[in-house]
Amino acid sequence: MTEGKENKEDEIEVFPFIEGETIDLVAGNSKWVPLVCKWQNDPKVRRYARNMWPVTIEDIKKWFEPSPDRHTKEFVVFTIYHKRDKRPIGSVGFGHINWVSRNANIFATIGEPEYWGKGIAIEANKLLIKYGFTELNFHKIYAGVFTPNKRSLRAAEKLGFEKEAILKEEMYVDGVYHDIHKFALFKRDWIKSNQTES
Ligand SMILES: CC(C)(COP(=O)(O)OP(=O)(O)OC[C@H]1O[C@@H](n2cnc3c(N)ncnc32)[C@H](O)[C@@H]1OP(=O)(O)O)[C@@H](O)C(=O)NCCC(=O)NCCS
Repeated sequence: MTEGKENKEDEIEVFPFIEGETIDLVAGNSKWVPLVCKWQNDPKVRRYARNMWPVTIEDIKKWFEPSPDRHTKEFVVFTIYHKRDKRPIGSVGFGHINWVSRNANIFATIGEPEYWGKGIAIEANKLLIKYGFTELNFHKIYAGVFTPNKRSLRAAEKLGFEKEAILKEEMYVDGVYHDIHKFALFKRDWIKSNQTES
């Protein structure tokens, strides 16, 4: 599989790690560094992802460097690759992985806003959650969403996350203090809801 937007000589090989219907979760490619940098700095995308600092190409390159021992790794990230359009459109992954308490923070960014509202975040998160519970053996996956991010609030609810807490006026964005909604999904509840669905 190759990225369609490239010239023939620049074709990028894509290695799906987890296969979905509309998208695959693929291993990152260092040729996508400028693209990821664009997503991180895009005013529309970064506002909801709460990136307050400019991100440089050098910063992003570090994400693609060989990771430390997998048993101490605190971070795992995939590129969301659109199968029909043959292009990378975002990133999804786990951060703050705690291998003793077996929990992690889930994050997702669809860096190309033209792909927002098409159910892609839901699909990518479902694939990642399954990976987290059935391959990495997480006990709990959590997320924090600030009030204006209606898409993420809706996505958390649809994915079966329960609201654990509201941190009042925790986040200052565009001159206003916003509440952060803390969500969590436990493996036992995820197993139950998957049994009900099938
Ligand atoms: C948040 C984000 C990942 C969601 O991705 P997405 O692919 O657009 O999400 P989905 O299409 O799967 O939609 C999720 C839900 O939000 C709903 N939604 C879409 N636009 C909405 C809006 N403006 N207001 C309220 N709900 C909305 C969708 O309808 C869907 O619910 P439904 O299936 O019941 O209809 C994406 O918008 C993004 O990357 N934003 C910028 C970065 C970011 O916010 N990251 C997350 C930080 S917590």
